[in-house]
Amino acid sequence: MMNTPAWLNDALFYEIYPQSFQDSNGDGIGDFQGIIDRLDYIASLGCNAIWMNPCFESPFRDAGYDVSDYYHVAPRYGTDQDLERLFKEAKKRGIRICLDLVPGHTSADHPWFIESCKSKDNPYSNRYIWTPGLVEKNEAGLSMVRGYAQRLGSFAANFFYHQPALNYGFANPDPAEPWQLPVNHPEVLALREELKNIMRHWLDMGAAGFRVDMAPSLIKKDEKHEANSALWREMRAFIEKEYPDAVLISEWGRPCEAIAAGFHIDFMLFGENPAYTSLFRYEKGRDVLAWHVGHSYFDPAGKGDINLFLKEYLLQCEAVKEHHGFISIPSGNHDMPRLRYDRDLDDLEVIFAFLLTMPGIPFIYYGDEIGMRYLPDLPSKEGGYNRTGCRTPMQWDKSVNAGFSAAAADQIYLPIDPAGDHPTVAEQDGDPNSLLNRVRAFSHLRKTYPALGNLGDFSAVYHPVGETPFIYRRTFKIQIVSSSP
Ligand code: GLC
Ligand code: CA
Repeated sequence: MMNTPAWLNDALFYEIYPQSFQDSNGDGIGDFQGIIDRLDYIASLGCNAIWMNPCFESPFRDAGYDVSDYYHVAPRYGTDQDLERLFKEAKKRGIRICLDLVPGHTSADHPWFIESCKSKDNPYSNRYIWTPGLVEKNEAGLSMVRGYAQRLGSFAANFFYHQPALNYGFANPDPAEPWQLPVNHPEVLALREELKNIMRHWLDMGAAGFRVDMAPSLIKKDEKHEANSALWREMRAFIEKEYPDAVLISEWGRPCEAIAAGFHIDFMLFGENPAYTSLFRYEKGRDVLAWHVGHSYFDPAGKGDINLFLKEYLLQCEAVKEHHGFISIPSGNHDMPRLRYDRDLDDLEVIFAFLLTMPGIPFIYYGDEIGMRYLPDLPSKEGGYNRTGCRTPMQWDKSVNAGFSAAAADQIYLPIDPAGDHPTVAEQDGDPNSLLNRVRAFSHLRKTYPALGNLGDFSAVYHPVGETPFIYRRTFKIQIVSSSP
């Protein structure tokens, strides 16, 4: 049986977008020292784990999801030693830090890709997915980029054109297309070993695990995700053997698959999975990902139906049980409009009461705990497009740049929410009825009563179709171990 690190049983995560959290040296960009300076604040929320978005070397054309060196941090955040110091300072406060691993693609500026672009064969020729000719008839449903390199042919890109897909092979390679390498091709297998080395590098330094970007899409032509699941089970086995306390968190969006594939935690996200969107988002035409069409339960209009959520959620819960995995319903993330969008602080209080009394592992996206706003009209920054509005600097107090940075206002990473009444930590800290203090109270309750915690049982008690309220019961079975001979 697989082992689940005990610390997950009461883990509460905080997601940090490092460029926007706290700038410590006045260059306008958040950094590791800034996070260190705010660890006590994070601990005050009851959070004992952090997921930090990518902090590796990168040209930042997708905010760092375009890695150009997996083994070094981006200088704008500090040095590798600063990151190590962050791990240590966090540990002193009982906080673990998970990094963001982007295994599926690199930046087009990565030295591996630069080698791979050369027409002369070299050890990196097959590190990415290249077709032999310029225009192919069968491109296996991939998104191909033509005319980029000296090498003849086109390469597969995962998200933006400058994010070439690393070559983990094809689940069902077409024999007529020999460029579709099988998953057991030696060069493809070598990449898996490289991936393990990358993980070893950061785990050795003190990382607690990884949130894995686009986890089910490494191996191509794998509709049912079977080959990708096998790949991740191999990674989990490696983790169990060498780093039994480390965790893998997936951006998969189907806990039933992801947990069976070896992940410890998966998020309930994405439009194809109505469970999240039926709670928080309905289609408004400006959202980043494909949202549920229709009303959502927590929208102020009150026209949603909690049963849309429950149907999917209960299925997923049942499926993950046997693997001892956790489902996370996050408050938001760096890809979505903020929870505050179209809502007020009272609405958020109700939502946090829900998020922090549900089983599984909650993730609080930085700033949601004070109700930071989504800024819909910001110009795109670093490939953010309409995601940019949920990535603005943390609002600490009423000082210059809301306490985020001492730089000139036009030099900071993104503008501060210009609203005169934008929420701040300092203001809410002193108000016992503020959203921030409610969030603290809910997380305290969660820690105090095991029934409300990550492992407690859940059952829906009252959930009328299309109506409020929704009532649920949380329980926890205490095991009494008898000492009879
Ligand atoms: C994930 C990340 C997103 C990024 C994309 C490509 O969805 O959350 O921010 O742009 O992958 O790496
Ligand atoms: Ca800085």
